[in-house]
Order: sequence, then C-alpha cells, then structure tokens
Amino acid sequence: MSQHILGVDVGGSGIKGSLVDIKTGALVGDRIRVETPAPANPNMIAEAFAGLIKKIGYKGPIGCGFPAIVQHGVAKSAANIDKSWIGHNIEKEFSEACGNPVKALNDADAAGLAELTFGQGQGVEGVVLLITIGTGLGTAQFVDGTLVPNTEFGHLYLHGRIAEHYCSNRIREEENLSWADWAHRFSEYLRHLERLLTPDLFILGGGVSKEFKDFGHLLKVNTPVKPAKLLNNAGIVGAAVYAGR
Ligand code: BGC
Repeated sequence: MSQHILGVDVGGSGIKGSLVDIKTGALVGDRIRVETPAPANPNMIAEAFAGLIKKIGYKGPIGCGFPAIVQHGVAKSAANIDKSWIGHNIEKEFSEACGNPVKALNDADAAGLAELTFGQGQGVEGVVLLITIGTGLGTAQFVDGTLVPNTEFGHLYLHGRIAEHYCSNRIREEENLSWADWAHRFSEYLRHLERLLTPDLFILGGGVSKEFKDFGHLLKVNTPVKPAKLLNNAGIVGAAVYAGR
C-alpha cells in the first residue's frame, strides 16, 4: 500500500481532506474543504464527499472521520448531524459515491489515533484520554496505545446536563463565557472523567486547542493536560492512518 493516503474529516460545517504521509503524519499537498450541505443527510453528504475527492483528483483507499458512533462502518448515533444517518453504512455510501474504498471511524477516535502516533500521546503508556472540543465533545480512550473505540464520554451527565451541552466550545460561545468561567466548567468535566477512568494523560484537541495558552493555566485537575500537537489536522491524519492499517 502507498505511503500516501487520503484522510477526510466530516464535520458539522465543513468536510476537509488532504493526502497524508502515514509514515510521518505530514500533510502532502493542499488541505481542501467543501461546505457541509444542509440538510446533512446521507445523500447530500455523499455527494459533497464525492465532490471533494474529485477536486483532489485522488484514486485509492480513503480514511474518513465521522462525527457519530461508528460501528463496523455503520453510524449508530447522530448528536450533531442529520438523524437520518442512524443505521446507515457510511463506508458503503461514500465508497459508492466516489468509487474508492472508504473506511470510516468516529472523528475523535481518528484525532486520537493521530495524536497517539505522531503527537502528544506518542509512547505514553497507561490510559490516555483525548477530548476534541468543538460543537460537541468527542472522546478517544487509549490503553497502552490501543484504542477503545466509540467511548462517547461527551455524553456523560454533569449538573443534569449532557456534558457537551455544558462545556463544549459552542456553549462557551453561545453563553458568552469568559475563559475563566468556561475553564471552571471544563475542569469539573475533567475531574469527573478523572474519578471514573483514572487517566494518565488528557490531550485536548479541536479548534479551541489553539487557544490553550488562554485557558490551560485555569484548568484545575490533578492529571496532566496537554494541547494536541496536530491541532486541526489530527482528524484528517488519523483517518488516513486508520485506512492504511
Ligand atoms: C458525538 C461524537 C463526536 C463528537 C465530536 C458528539 O456529539 O456524539 O460521536 O465524536 O460529537 O464531533
């Protein structure tokens, strides 16, 4: 198999893809983005997905991070995407639309694979928890480097609210929270995970990880917390790594 594989990250607002060198984790060539269509149902997303692949002009295996529970290629939830995805085979839908074999996994699991292979989680033993902070909260758990897929800890309850409705980046923006107020909420979430899972390391990814300097010092939790190294490209890189396995 080639060392260069296409990784795609399907998100609520954009579908992003790039060729990835799966031996180094580097993006090869341009990162291309198309808008996520509305409604974001299987037909519409598959068409946009195929358009992206055509734009890139790629033939070969594709890895795809998808913002839902993904079991054996099938979407099993749809918290931040059209509900009609539930029960749909993502791999079949996208492979047929673009004419290339597609392997799909949860988007946070993809980001976690990238961080464990090339970023902050490299060589870290024990329990590592990556959290992507965006519209929702995505989680990826690793035990001695092995992924435990579809953990969905963003859906734990905190103060009677689903955690991602309490301390995601969307909530920070919608409720106009200061970094201090948001970090207070997010620390409660981290301490909750700490009590349940006894992690050795938290890695924070997603768009907001770029602002770690603004809030990292405000987090109050005993477990070490580090910002993701691959920032916004982690989902693309991890998806490509997954397809190359
Ligand atoms: C979904 C997860 C996803 C996360 C980040 C959550 O709402 O349930 O599957 O990983 O958002 O996109």
